[in-house]
Amino acid sequence: MSRAHAEVRRYGVLKAEDNEILTRVGPGTLMGELLRRYWTPACLSEEIPAPGSPPARVRLLGEKLVAFRDTAGRVGLMQENCPHRGASLYYGRNEDAALRCVYHGWAYDTEGRCVDMPSEPAPFCEKVRM
Ligand code: FES
Repeated sequence: MSRAHAEVRRYGVLKAEDNEILTRVGPGTLMGELLRRYWTPACLSEEIPAPGSPPARVRLLGEKLVAFRDTAGRVGLMQENCPHRGASLYYGRNEDAALRCVYHGWAYDTEGRCVDMPSEPAPFCEKVRM
């Protein structure tokens, strides 16, 4: 028996299904749910340097996100695609303490709440949340 073979026998090799469990980190996966319970660095401060600066794309745990520092200096991290029609918020306008989607103008604060919806009355806006 070779030394390498002896080590494999001693320490074991992951089965394919165990490997799947340990390496999948997207939403709804076992490891994904575990890792989302802990703080994870998402981007550097210098990527969103000043209040009102353009958003930054972030790929984290298999999710497409955008990070931004609103005009009040608060940092937000949210899904990249707008809940309305899926336009990318990476191209959003950072204004009035919110990130405004350039497609239809819905605006989201750093907590993911919809704070402005130009074409709809206020009660509907309050129901939308990232
Ligand atoms: S797609 Fe963003 S407001 Fe419509």
